[in-house]
Amino acid sequence: MKTIIEPFKIKSVESIRFTTPSERKKILKDAFYNTFLIHSQDVLIDLLTDSGTSAMSSEQWAGIMRGDEAYAGSQSFYKFESVVKKITGFEYVIPTHQGRAAEKILFSVVGGERKYFPNNTHFDTTRANIEYTGAEAVDFITEVGRHPEKRADFKGNIDLIELESFINEVGPDNIPFVMLTVTNNSGGGQPVSMENIRATKKLCDEYGLKLFLDACRFAENAYFIKIRERGYESTSILEIAQEMFSYADGCTMSAKKDALVNIGGFLAMNDEDLMMKCRNVLIVTEGFPTYGGLAGRDLEAIAQGLEEVLEENYLQYRIRSIEYLGEKLLAADVPILEPPGGHAIYLDAKRFAPHIPADQYPGQSIVCEIYLQGGIRTVEIGSVMFGKYDKDGKLIPANLELVRLALPRRVYTQSHVDYVAEVIIEVFEKRNSLKGMKITYEAPILRHFTAKFEYI
Ligand code: F0G
Repeated sequence: MKTIIEPFKIKSVESIRFTTPSERKKILKDAFYNTFLIHSQDVLIDLLTDSGTSAMSSEQWAGIMRGDEAYAGSQSFYKFESVVKKITGFEYVIPTHQGRAAEKILFSVVGGERKYFPNNTHFDTTRANIEYTGAEAVDFITEVGRHPEKRADFKGNIDLIELESFINEVGPDNIPFVMLTVTNNSGGGQPVSMENIRATKKLCDEYGLKLFLDACRFAENAYFIKIRERGYESTSILEIAQEMFSYADGCTMSAKKDALVNIGGFLAMNDEDLMMKCRNVLIVTEGFPTYGGLAGRDLEAIAQGLEEVLEENYLQYRIRSIEYLGEKLLAADVPILEPPGGHAIYLDAKRFAPHIPADQYPGQSIVCEIYLQGGIRTVEIGSVMFGKYDKDGKLIPANLELVRLALPRRVYTQSHVDYVAEVIIEVFEKRNSLKGMKITYEAPILRHFTAKFEYI
C-alpha cells in the first residue's frame, strides 16, 4: 500500500514562532508550569486539544460568507438542522455555542440530587455539569479499558455487567439516562463498538431507561467500527453513524471536534417534552432556538463540516496520522496508551516516569519537559484533571496518569508529526531527571485550567 497522504492541499498558511530553550524556561515559569496559561504565540506545535482547532475548508469559509444572520428563522439554521437530522435521525435539534452549553442545558433539566448518570467515561465538563446540579456522574469502563498497555479493538466499551448491577443498586427511577461517549476521550480516544452500543440500548430498554450519546467524535468512532468490526467493511461512514445514533434517544455534541469548526455545538433528541424544557433554558441562557448562541455563519460552517467529516479519505488520513505518531513512539519504547486513539496519543505517565508518585503529578512534569524541550504544548489527563481529595485532604489519584497529544484536524503535516516524535523521544531518554510537582493554587472546580504549579 502507498503512503496515505493528506487529502487536501493548503491554500492559506499561518506562521509558527520558534523560541529558544531559555525563552521557554521563562515562559513556562511565568505560566506557573500550567500549559493552559501559556500564550499561543509562544507555542511551536499546539497539541493541547483537537477542540476548535481544526482548519476549515474553502467550502466552510464560503459558508461563512453565505451565513444568514436573521434573528429568527435563519436559512442557515434550517441547513444545519437538516444535516444534523440526516446523520442522527433525531427529531429536535437545539444549537448551542459549544458542547458544554448543551450539557449545561440538558443536566439543568434532568439532573439534581440523588440522580445518577452512568457513562463509559465522562469527559471533565460533562462530569462537572452533572455534579454542579448535585447529581452523580459514574464511569463504567470495561476491564481492558483500564489498562493502557493492553490492546483491544474497542477499549471505549461500557461494562454492561457493572452497569446493570449499578442500575439495580440505585434503582432505574434515579437514572434519567445512560450515556456513551464516542470516542471515549478521557479513556484514550478509544472507540465503542456497534455491538456495545446495541447491547447498551437493549439493557436500557429492559429497565425503561433512555440512552444519550456524547457524540463529539462520532465520525472517528464510526471509522473505527468500519475497519475493526465485522460486517461493516463495506458500510458507508454515514450509514454507520446513522446506525449508532439509531440506538440513542438523544445526543450532546461539541461541533468543535468532528464538525470541523472553531466554535459550535448542539443538543438533539426525540422526546418532545424534554426538548421543550431544554429549549426554554436555551432561550434564557444561549439565544433564540434558530441560532442558540451561534451566528448564522457558524451554523453554515457546521453544516458543511458535518458533510466533510464523513468522507472516508479524510477519516483514513486522520486515524492514520495518529497511528503513525504512535508507531514512532512505540518503536523507541515510549510507553503510550495502546492502541492509538482517534484524535490523540496518550503517553502513559506511570510507566514513563515511575519514580514520580501520583501526588507529585508525573503527567504534569512530562508536559512541562515536552514544552521546554521542543515548544510543544500538551496536556495532563490524570490526577491534575481528575484527582480529588479525601476527608483528610489526601489526594485520591485518577485511575490513569496520561499526557495527551491531541492532533488538531487538517492542521499539521507529516513533518510536524515527525518533529513531535523526535522531541518526545528525547524527553523519554532523559526521563530519570524529571522532577515531581506540587500545586500552589487551585480552583474548586475544573482546577486544571487555572492551577499553578512548582517543582518540588
Ligand atoms: N465531551 C467530550 C467527550 C469532550 O471531549 C468535550 C471537549 C466536551 C464534551 C465539551 O465540549 O469543549 O465544546 O464544551 N473536549 C475538549 C478536549 C475540550 O480538549 O478534549 P466543549
